[in-house]
Amino acid sequence: MSGPVLEVRGLRKSFAGVRAVDGAAFSVRAGSITGLIGPNGSGKSTAVDCISGFQRADAGQVLLDGADLRGLTPQRIARRGLTRTFQDVRVYEGYDLLQNLLVVAQPFVGVGWGGELLRSAGYRRARVAAEARARELIELVGLTRLVEAPAAVLSYGQKKLLAFAGAMMSAPRLVVLDEPVAGVNPTRINEVAEIVRRANAGGTAFLIIEHNVEFITGLCEHVVVLDRGAKLAEGPPHQVHQDPRVLEAYLGVEAVA
Ligand SMILES: Nc1ncnc2c1ncn2[C@@H]1O[C@H](COP(=O)(O)OP(=O)(O)OP(=O)(O)O)[C@@H](O)[C@H]1O
Ligand SMILES: [Mg+2]
Repeated sequence: MSGPVLEVRGLRKSFAGVRAVDGAAFSVRAGSITGLIGPNGSGKSTAVDCISGFQRADAGQVLLDGADLRGLTPQRIARRGLTRTFQDVRVYEGYDLLQNLLVVAQPFVGVGWGGELLRSAGYRRARVAAEARARELIELVGLTRLVEAPAAVLSYGQKKLLAFAGAMMSAPRLVVLDEPVAGVNPTRINEVAEIVRRANAGGTAFLIIEHNVEFITGLCEHVVVLDRGAKLAEGPPHQVHQDPRVLEAYLGVEAVA
């Protein structure tokens, strides 16, 4: 059994008195696919924002392979081996697919913004390696025939796949996916699951936020449930989805929605 790649302890984040994350604590086993579920507004995205450096937590610890990430920028955290995608899909619409991935790779390999190259042989080699990796990842997500198309022409689901490829560019230890199949055509959801499985077989761990129960159940060995910013339950997906406390948390929120 391998140890945790990620440990979150006592994480807190409030916005103007709203306790978005209220003492959340959980871990992700190295190499695993772990789910992070919970009702709308339970603090999943905010927790991930704090973990990945996009928000500064009010309190708590985030350890990646045992090292504290507190105060680091998202780029530095990515260099340490943790990347993420966003619930609202983010790609560079005017850039083609390859350029999108090379821009993401910029902090890692020294590729200049918009494809300008720094001149040293080291940078040239890094640029060649980054392009090779980008092409492999575009192949992994099944977008090779669109490699030279601007990202603007992609469907919503394809943009999510491009963002997924971007998160994989730095060969991270852990990728957090925030709702990878929300809004994706149901006929394509199994393909996304297969892509995650293949990337995971390469050694990358995943923490997946998703409301799609079938997707989470099919992929995850372990699921953490957040409710009102704290962990309500955790365990294998089938067990968690039958847990009366979990059902009540979902129903409770729906009842007041
Ligand atoms: N930037 C912000 N400013 C103010 N309040 C925020 C901000 N971001 C999140 N919140 C609030 O924090 C709470 C948690 O939101 P969050 O987006 O983390 O939930 P979530 O579990 O990701 O929900 P969903 O499943 O709907 O994506 C909500 O009450 C939300 O309104
Ligand atoms: Mg969210």
